[in-house]
Amino acid sequence: MKPCIALTKGRLEKQFLEFFQSLEYDISPLLNKGRKLRVETEDFQFVFAKGVDVTTYVEHGIADLGIVGEDILAEFQPNVYNLLPLPFGKCRMALAAEAGIDWPERKRTIASKYPNITKEFFRRKGESVDVVKLEGSVELAPILGLADGIVDIVETGTTLKENGLVIKEEFHQYSARCIANRSSLILKKDLLAPVVEALQKGVPIQ
Ligand code: PRP
Repeated sequence: MKPCIALTKGRLEKQFLEFFQSLEYDISPLLNKGRKLRVETEDFQFVFAKGVDVTTYVEHGIADLGIVGEDILAEFQPNVYNLLPLPFGKCRMALAAEAGIDWPERKRTIASKYPNITKEFFRRKGESVDVVKLEGSVELAPILGLADGIVDIVETGTTLKENGLVIKEEFHQYSARCIANRSSLILKKDLLAPVVEALQKGVPIQ
């Protein structure tokens, strides 16, 4: 039986495949997979899902391992084993607002895909804010007047820049992580050990 790895679709998927190939695993069936969400390679079964769903598949033991952003782990706190950091998917969590607009003195409204991280950030500052949960394109919220600012991940900074927003404060650094189902780690130890070791070896010493 092949180990099952759940992989976050999109940017992390691309970066993971480059990394995985550098570890000399065959990724050719994954390169032209089209719209398929489940692909088998010589050594693994891969399933492709949104970040938070990757944690759900791993939590339920459908996938043995998962590749997911640390931001997702921080926001949703899934019951998975947070196995190791990976050398890609580096980003920061930041508070941003429109350039040239004064930060209002009244109670602020913050839009975010990360309501828990946002609340915790302002709680630590001793500030009370209203949080509006959005699912994406969060940068629109201040421009359209839905919020005074946003809390979101910044990777290259291009999205903020192209939408006229600036960082007011950065407060967490994240990378991609390899997560594991707690039982799989024990029950499928022999099957998973080689890949975990390879992923670990590919991680530069911090
Ligand atoms: C993420 C994030 C920012 C953007 C940051 O969104 O929420 O919008 O990437 O990246 P950058 O600093 O390199 O521009 P994603 O691309 O996942 O899309 P979404 O907003 O629709 O969730």
